[in-house]
Amino acid sequence: MSKFTEYIGAQFGNPNGFVGSCCCLLMNIINHRMYKQILSNIHVQENSKILDIGYGNGYLLKQLYKRYRPELFGIDISEDMKLAATARNKQAVAAGKCHLSIGDCCDLSYDNDSFDAITSINTVYFWRDTLQGLREIKRCLKTGGTFYNVVYTKEWLQSLAYTQKGFALFEKEDLIALGKEAGFSEVVIKDIKRGKSYMVLYTK
Ligand SMILES: C[S@@+](CC[C@H](N)C(=O)[O-])C[C@H]1O[C@@H](n2cnc3c(N)ncnc32)[C@H](O)[C@@H]1O
Repeated sequence: MSKFTEYIGAQFGNPNGFVGSCCCLLMNIINHRMYKQILSNIHVQENSKILDIGYGNGYLLKQLYKRYRPELFGIDISEDMKLAATARNKQAVAAGKCHLSIGDCCDLSYDNDSFDAITSINTVYFWRDTLQGLREIKRCLKTGGTFYNVVYTKEWLQSLAYTQKGFALFEKEDLIALGKEAGFSEVVIKDIKRGKSYMVLYTK
C-alpha cells in the first residue's frame, strides 16, 4: 500500500485540511443514496432531537434541517469538520437548533434517553471499540428510538485500495450480533444497493 493511498484512507477516518474537505465533498456526491436512505426512512418531527455521529462537513445535518426542522446535535473527532459543518449549517446554528461537538462516539457526554433518533453514515469502521460505541448510542437514545447506521459492505470496501489500513470491516451478521450484545431490542437490515451498501436499524 503506497503512502499516498494510506494518507487518503486516513482522511476518510479523520478529515483535515484541504484534502479532508475535498474527500468530504466527494463523499457528498458518491454517497447520495446513503443520505437519501436516512432522509426517507427516519421518523422525525419538528420537536425531535437527532444526533449525527461523525457528521463530516455537515451535509446530512443540513438536509435533515431543511426537511424536518428538528433540534440537531452532532459529534465528530475532527476539529476541521466542526468548522466546515458549522459553516454549512449556519442558519440552524444561529437559530439555536444545531449543536456541534468534537468528541468520540465511544464516550458520549449526553444524558441517558436524550435522542429520538441517532444517525451515522460511514463512521463505524473508525470507532476504537464498536461494542462500546453501540452501548453509548443505546444509552443516549430514548426508548423506542432508532439508530440508523449506514455502511458499505465488507465485500465492497475490500475491493478499494485505501481501506486496507485503518478500517474495521464488518459482515452484516457482525453488526447484528454487536447490536444485540449492546442491548438493542430489535436490529434490522435494509439493503440500499445489494452487495454494496446497506442500513442497520437498531431500535432501543
Ligand atoms: C467517512 S467520514 C463520513 C462523514 C459523514 N458521515 C458523511 O457521510 O458525509 C467519517 C467521519 O467520522 C468521523 N469519526 C471517525 N471516528 C469517529 C468517532 N469515534 N466518533 C465520532 N466521529 C468519528 C470522522 O472524523 C469523519 O468526519
